[in-house]
Amino acid sequence: MYRIESKINTSSELFKSNKEDFLRLMAEYREKLNSVINGSTPSSVEKHKSRGKLLARERIDLLIDPNTPFLELSTMAAYGQYENQFPSAGIITGIGMVQGRETMIIANDATVKGGTYMKETIKKHIRAQEIAMENHLACIYMVDSGGVFLPDQANVFPDRFGFGRFFFNQARMSSLGIPQVAIVMGSCTAGGAYVPAMSDETIIVKNQGTIFIGGPPLVKAATGEIVTAEELGGADVHTSISGVADHYAENDRHAILICRNIFETLGHKVKQTLDIIKPEEPFYNPEELYGIAPIDFKKPVDAKEIIARMVDGSRFQEFKARYAPTVVTGFAHIMGYPIGIIANNGVIFSETSLKSAHFVELCTSRKIPILFLQNITGFIVGREYERRGIARDGAKFVHAVANADVPKFTVVFGGSFGAGNYAMAGRAYDPRLLMMWPNSRISVMGGEQAAGVLVQVKQDQLAASNKVMKAEDIEKLRNSILQKYDFEGSPYFSTSRLWDDGIIDPTDTRKVIAMGIAMSLNKPWDDTKYGIFRM
Ligand code: COA
Repeated sequence: MYRIESKINTSSELFKSNKEDFLRLMAEYREKLNSVINGSTPSSVEKHKSRGKLLARERIDLLIDPNTPFLELSTMAAYGQYENQFPSAGIITGIGMVQGRETMIIANDATVKGGTYMKETIKKHIRAQEIAMENHLACIYMVDSGGVFLPDQANVFPDRFGFGRFFFNQARMSSLGIPQVAIVMGSCTAGGAYVPAMSDETIIVKNQGTIFIGGPPLVKAATGEIVTAEELGGADVHTSISGVADHYAENDRHAILICRNIFETLGHKVKQTLDIIKPEEPFYNPEELYGIAPIDFKKPVDAKEIIARMVDGSRFQEFKARYAPTVVTGFAHIMGYPIGIIANNGVIFSETSLKSAHFVELCTSRKIPILFLQNITGFIVGREYERRGIARDGAKFVHAVANADVPKFTVVFGGSFGAGNYAMAGRAYDPRLLMMWPNSRISVMGGEQAAGVLVQVKQDQLAASNKVMKAEDIEKLRNSILQKYDFEGSPYFSTSRLWDDGIIDPTDTRKVIAMGIAMSLNKPWDDTKYGIFRM
């Protein structure tokens, strides 16, 4: 493969000022991230530690193989909502290596409202299970939770993807041979009791872990029986009398060791094969992404300059380089793994859609994963394009992406607007991971366009009754829409609501995608079957 020849002048004023602006965004990102990671109240942390318990992230550090990375997902879930009382939505999820196996770890953070589940906590737990199911990743549940956050019960309890889905997913995964292991390190109340009870193997910590369908206050209220938590559902009871748990641990560290020992006994795994080569750093320094990545979306950014700082040796086998240049397609390697890349390089025209759909077919026929690099304002509009069938050709692209059964990964490196989001494997198209950069924006259209549309609609309404909109009313409407889109288009707004799997530093993109591909190999990939492409 040829190396991409960069045209970027890293000494130019343009590069330097973009980098300065980007580093400001990075500083803001790190500050927000730190505020979340250290977001529990000091008193709750103190209480937790005084009980001899480790914090959720400390538990994960001990659980994963030494000197291996942990890809934490949606760290900023619930950020900016509920007066920031739920840092990380009270649950830590992510992919780490346990005995050499990519594993999904789901750990309650009891320092956040007793580890209870509100809307985003549920979404995050279920998303982690979805990833585990799709990639056949063994699951470890580090349970320390008071169950449902009772004031939010309507958002948590009864719906299809509510609390009950956890146990449904556990049963389905177990039936697929995806190991389910629970470590009960604290409370495990009511519905929560089913997390360990539905696991293949369960460990419980002495004088710390409890499992019961109804806690002591509920038992007293219901039957008048007075019983301590330990007598009702402690480690001793469950490992020697009820059999609800299988292994008795002295403390957190011991429990984690037992879990690692269990992982030594998991059976052999059939993996998807892939022609992996020796990893190589990009020829162009990934830190240069700070000087290149789009901040002002009005200025075009050559997607190849982004790719050059992401792929091994900056080498890229471009497909249809001379045709439909508003999308860049081609093959490369990321940390030795082969990958097909589709990157936006402008608006989507009919020929852009056809080129992209053709490239998706190449990837699915060769069984190569696809990376979608999104920086998209949307599909082209206007009479000429409608007449030439942009909707028909766009549908071919969407159809190909929806049915592509190789692992898809999506990174939003700029804007993600309109149906471009769909065609480029947005959340609704089941990419195995979807990550945002701190400069990214996501909404149905840009704020300017939305304000323009709504002002026009209002003016047309008034014109029908021979009225004219006053200039100050136009300005007021425009500003309110601009403000709303500015707020809601932020990557922090998106990640808070789990529209993505997290915000990442652009220089980490290679590592994250490589981990994603590695995890996807745990389940052999299906053959792709397409339906009818509208011709
Ligand atoms: N719903 C809402 N808030 C809850 C809660 C629940 N189920 N369980 C605990 N909390 C809140 C507490 O109000 C407290 O909030 P604050 O920090 O704003 O004061 C915080 O979580 C910590 O609770 P606390 O009892 O002080 O902590 P603890 O570590 O001593 O005990 C539990 C934690 C979870 C064991 C205990 O609170 C408990 O038993 N909760 C009730 C569990 C239950 O019955 N759940 C049924 C759900 S189906």
